[in-house]
Amino acid sequence: MNPFQYRDGELFCEEIPVSRIARDFGTPCWIYSKAMLLHQLGQIQQAFAGVNPVICFSVKANSNLGILKVMRDAGSSFDVVSGGELYRVKKAGADTAKVVFAGVGKTDAEIQLALENQILMFDVESEPELDAIAAVAEKMGVIAPVALRLNPDIDAKTHAKTTTGKKGNKFGMDIERVFELADKVLKTPRLKLVGIHMHLGSPILTTEPYELAGQKAIEVTRDLRARGHEIGWVNLGGGFGISYRGSEGLPASEYAKVIVPAVQEMGVQLALEPGRFITGNAGILVSEVVYTKREGGKLFVIQDAAMNDLMRPAMYDAFHKIWPVKAAAEPANYEGEIDGCEACDVVGPVCESGDYFAKGRYLPPVERGDLISIFSAGAYGTSMSSNYNSRPRAVELLVDKGHVQVVRRRETYDDLIAAEMDVE
Ligand code: LLP
Repeated sequence: MNPFQYRDGELFCEEIPVSRIARDFGTPCWIYSKAMLLHQLGQIQQAFAGVNPVICFSVKANSNLGILKVMRDAGSSFDVVSGGELYRVKKAGADTAKVVFAGVGKTDAEIQLALENQILMFDVESEPELDAIAAVAEKMGVIAPVALRLNPDIDAKTHAKTTTGKKGNKFGMDIERVFELADKVLKTPRLKLVGIHMHLGSPILTTEPYELAGQKAIEVTRDLRARGHEIGWVNLGGGFGISYRGSEGLPASEYAKVIVPAVQEMGVQLALEPGRFITGNAGILVSEVVYTKREGGKLFVIQDAAMNDLMRPAMYDAFHKIWPVKAAAEPANYEGEIDGCEACDVVGPVCESGDYFAKGRYLPPVERGDLISIFSAGAYGTSMSSNYNSRPRAVELLVDKGHVQVVRRRETYDDLIAAEMDVE
């Protein structure tokens, strides 16, 4: 499914011309397709239905309340990594009994908040964290459910900044430590070991790492059970890739093919933490060309969105398709030379050389006032955005067939300084 299609020379989101949305709400603007969000979540729900998993949408991918509510209404639960994310999912009406909490630096206050909300489990990443959870649970007189996060030492071949499951990353623990801590849990009355957790990296475009993780989970579960632990849950994290360039993304059923048999063999409940797979291709960022300029033998297209809105290209050299909102059709291939197009650098107004969305990218001629769309921006776009250069965050819009709803208004200049205090 692709809700962003060119019809009669212009880009539509579901049933609405993107240019009309930009005219009504201004640029830059984020446009999400509700149908695509539901389609992607539905793919995972169907593919894994045989093992009845708890699907925990990874809030870090897109934490907008409107999106979280769409997820909740469609039967998703949530993966959170901070007290702030837990606050958000509660505001979205989540059942916290199905929420999982990962992250290497949980504070006592966050642990307490999670225990008060009786979350499903903590994904524990170190011994001091385990001790802190036990201490907070003791103070509160409750029992804390914990899953131990294993670093499975699997190379998921992602970008260096998004790999997590390889030895030497800050995430999870080596197998020996997992066994040690499992035994410690048995001796700690305030802790209950409910399972194991792994997250391999993001985005992962092959099934092999999940197959290896499944095998690893089978071994570890068997060994832990032999040591007297009840292992009821295996959480395999997120990381399912999407098509940023062409059609490289796999359907959820491919991942299920390697994960489901392992889960059946272990006889455990499965939790998954997909983020990007659900929202990535459900959102675009639309901007307006402010100027074009030719300098140093190059053509620069300067538009009104910037790295403070979408920082993925600056941070990971990430590839996002870019194309004018008014154009005959999309090219078959966005990479390399395109007929009738000229190579340009698509940049923003922020005062950093790293503020670009693409370099040497082929685009049809554009001029001041033209709208362009930056695709696959629904994951790790707004959730990583900032006010750098004192730029108000852009408006977020949710499209449902022919209807547009503002799910986050554009920030004002007053919003920029709202939390700041006068010097006395
Ligand atoms: N679970 C855990 C423990 C994670 O660390 C992550 C992502 C996920 C689930 C969700 O992964 P997903 O299904 O969305 O791939 N900012 C980077 C991605 C960072 C991912 C961090 N952890 C980007 O823009 O590509």
